[in-house]
Amino acid sequence: MLIDTHCHLDAHYFAEGPDAVIERARAAGVGGFVCIGVGGAAAAEHAVGVAQRRADVVATVGIHPHEAGSSSAELFATLTALSGQPKVVAIGEIGLDYHYDHSPRDVQRDVFAKMIGFARERRLPIVVHTREAAADTLEILGREGAGDVGGVIHCFSEDRAFAARALDLGFDLSFSGVVTFKNAQSVHDVAAWAPADRILVETDAPYLAPHPLRGKRCEPAYVAHTARAVAMLRGVQPDEIAQLTSENACRRFGPALAAAVGMVQNPS
Ligand code: NI
Repeated sequence: MLIDTHCHLDAHYFAEGPDAVIERARAAGVGGFVCIGVGGAAAAEHAVGVAQRRADVVATVGIHPHEAGSSSAELFATLTALSGQPKVVAIGEIGLDYHYDHSPRDVQRDVFAKMIGFARERRLPIVVHTREAAADTLEILGREGAGDVGGVIHCFSEDRAFAARALDLGFDLSFSGVVTFKNAQSVHDVAAWAPADRILVETDAPYLAPHPLRGKRCEPAYVAHTARAVAMLRGVQPDEIAQLTSENACRRFGPALAAAVGMVQNPS
């Protein structure tokens, strides 16, 4: 069984609705889903709603760097209320995106720092988005004490030096379809090298469909391609990666995810 630790199931991505998408994934051997609630209050409520309705889904809520510039006190109040729901397992995705720069960088940094503080108050791990902002991301994670809650570097696309620092700070590395791309040499290197108990897999649906589906709309069923690529890079069987990454995901996101996939958690 696989867990897709990062998918966006909003209606504007999947007009057929989340249940149809999830059933296709279940048929492909994916048994658990971390649904990311970003893009405003309605999107966060949607993600949490899917998690409350379905046994196999948990949710996160957060403020994506793209929307940092338009975040408001009302949004923050909604996220505060939602973050108390038992099926909300993390705050995210939050972070920095200097590739698109949809929000001013100083605002992105402020909102990222504020959301780390929020996660620490709520004692929830964080899901980190970082693009072309490696140094600032690591600096803010360190400065804001993000290691107290830890979390995940989502859609890992950096190099081994970044990975080593992130692991030291208490962050697991989540591999997306990027690890299946032939030109992603540094990501291949990290996927082969990273400690076995610190790796996860995800789709980031509807983005970044893995090879050989690259360019299509991505959906959680495709996480098997990503797991297979990670297995190949590590020289192990895909089943082993499925087992390992599912255990790691349950350890990271806690009892709500373990219950969602029917896994008994060892106390640690
Ligand atoms: Ni995402």
